[in-house]
Amino acid sequence: MKVTFVAADGASTLVEADEGESLMQAAISNDVDGILGECGGSMMCATCHCYVDEAWAGRAGPPVDGEDDMLECATAERRATSRLSCQIRMSAGIDGIVIHLPETQV
Ligand code: FES
Repeated sequence: MKVTFVAADGASTLVEADEGESLMQAAISNDVDGILGECGGSMMCATCHCYVDEAWAGRAGPPVDGEDDMLECATAERRATSRLSCQIRMSAGIDGIVIHLPETQV
């Protein structure tokens, strides 16, 4: 399955992700700049903040329990499509998803 990460400067990177893998893990294992994931995916850091592309927002779904509060701690501006990429798991329903990265995570 595939994910496209689009950096704040517009550069995009297409990576492979396995079923069940989080988008944060997919970004880290493919050296995508712009996702830090300092807490390893336990929803404690907000350095995996991302913006789901508008066209995919419905399929990615809303923030899970507790994610909303952590998004308030994100450094970059929060938008309607903000999610923690560690809480989005790859599945057939979001194969091909496009994720925009904030300018900064710290
Ligand atoms: S990796 Fe820390 S909140 Fe997502």
